[in-house]
Amino acid sequence: MRLLKRAAMIIVCLLSLFAIYIQLTFKRKFDVPVTGIKASTDSAIVARGKYIVNGQAHCYHCHMPDSMKKLGPREPLIGGYAFKTPFGDIYTPNITSDNATGVGAWTDEELAQALRYNVDHNKNALVGIMPFNSMSDEDLTAVVSYMRTMKPVRNAVPEHDINILGKALMRFVIGPVEAEVSHLKPDSSAAYGKYLAYTVANCNGCHTRRGAAGGYEGDPFGGGNEWKTENGTFISPNITPNDTVGRIAKWNYEVFERRFRAGKLMEETPMPWENFQEMSESDLKAIYNFLQSLEPSNHVVQTTFKPAPSTEPAHQASGR
Ligand code: HEC
Ligand code: HEC
Repeated sequence: MRLLKRAAMIIVCLLSLFAIYIQLTFKRKFDVPVTGIKASTDSAIVARGKYIVNGQAHCYHCHMPDSMKKLGPREPLIGGYAFKTPFGDIYTPNITSDNATGVGAWTDEELAQALRYNVDHNKNALVGIMPFNSMSDEDLTAVVSYMRTMKPVRNAVPEHDINILGKALMRFVIGPVEAEVSHLKPDSSAAYGKYLAYTVANCNGCHTRRGAAGGYEGDPFGGGNEWKTENGTFISPNITPNDTVGRIAKWNYEVFERRFRAGKLMEETPMPWENFQEMSESDLKAIYNFLQSLEPSNHVVQTTFKPAPSTEPAHQASGR
């Protein structure tokens, strides 16, 4: 009995020491390659950056608090939206050019490295929620150039609130991402559509089913991720060309474009329709061509919205 107690004590001590060790060392610094990206003031490049930031890449979707999104503007990108994860709360940073609370004091290179390698300006790894690692030099230059023109807005966002599990992941698992950089130029090919769907517009991030820890588990673009809101649950549909269970298998390009131009039809949907609404015809065609080229998935998604069970008294509900 005494021996057991002593063993338990030793284990508790070791665990505490381990927790202290993680606490002290979870912020690892990483060296990443130099991108050589420099902001440009060329108006065509800045305009291209604005198109990517507000349209395809929907930066506002994450870099704005929910309360402001309801008001409809796409900027300023003052951050403060919280991702609630099993590893703690991750707050998006203020990316306006404010010197104190935003990215105004960062160099072009630091901004480019954040997007290409997922490291912040202190060279700590970001948690890897952003998918832009393969973004072409031209597009990254355009994004950084446009960021330089965003007017500064002072807004201090809370520090991340990461639990010991999250810190252990940061200590041992999470690091910079090194991906092959794209050299594609915009056109309506399926190859360019693939670049948009994975790297810039992140259709993959929502339409390919993920496991609890965030890793991809389902058929590519087979749907099945869920988002709970107050009024119900949204489920991303299967958007592969499966004739029976694919949501858009019977849509020709005109139907597809009309759906995108219509924008948001359900108030609380997580899909950033209001950004994609602005995409050029060529970009939408590229994405359409890419989706049509996919391996059809048999994954069944019955509905894209399940209303929460009604809380109204039964007699009222049956009266309709
Ligand atoms: C899917 C959500 C999401 C989208 C879309 C997104 N971001 Fe982020 N971004 C984040 C999160 C979350 C962090 C913080 C991650 C961390 O600290 O580990 C972040 C961090 C950053 C940082 C690093 C800031 C710092 O303080 O370290 C920059 C720069 C940035 N984002 C720019 C952008 C730009 C530009 C776009 C659009 C092209 C964009 N983000 C789109 C979620 C997103
Ligand atoms: C942040 C998550 C998210 C992202 C990013 C996202 N989607 Fe969705 N998508 C959803 C959800 C959830 C639904 C179901 C609710 C709805 O229709 O708004 C949906 C619905 C759809 C539909 C069916 C619409 C209908 O009327 O039936 C299509 C088509 C679609 N998405 C294509 C795309 C494409 C293409 C991209 C990338 C350009 C993309 N989605 C990016 C979450 C997302």
